[in-house]
Amino acid sequence: MKFKSPSEFFLVLLVGALSACGPSHDKNSDGALNLSQSNLEPTFTSIRKNVFEAKCTACHVGGGAAEKVPLTDYAALLASPRELVLPGNPAESAIILSIEATGDSQMPPLSSGSGHLSDFEISTIRSWIQDGAKDN
Ligand code: HEC
Repeated sequence: MKFKSPSEFFLVLLVGALSACGPSHDKNSDGALNLSQSNLEPTFTSIRKNVFEAKCTACHVGGGAAEKVPLTDYAALLASPRELVLPGNPAESAIILSIEATGDSQMPPLSSGSGHLSDFEISTIRSWIQDGAKDN
């Protein structure tokens, strides 16, 4: 590449530097968008709306690939024989195990391209379960 003047050379440098640090501001370390984070609270209603319905119901819905794993119906979620949510015991709740997993058992699945939930989303779901996983 040949530059007509020194200032043209610096312009190219500047544009390159700006574009290198542009879009990363909107993303967390896993590259997932951080849009609904500020509204998220450790209640079932908030988690259902901001996480489950936003990131899981493409598959976790009647007719979907994971319809046998209910997330958005409180009674079904708590009653699941897969121990999806064990009130007071997030460490052994299948929801926490799967959103913290890496590899094949990771949720959302790696293949879906969604990436891991953010640390904030995971810790909010943890707190809700730790607090007794109430229907709140
Ligand atoms: C691209 C599709 C897809 C998305 C998106 C997805 N899942 Fe899944 N999930 C699956 C499939 C498929 C299974 C296995 C279903 C089965 O065993 O019948 C599964 C199983 C699970 C299980 C059960 C694990 C076990 O131990 O049995 C949990 C918990 C789970 N998903 C949570 C989530 C959560 C939380 C989200 C959103 C943050 C999510 N999934 C998003 C497809 C998906």
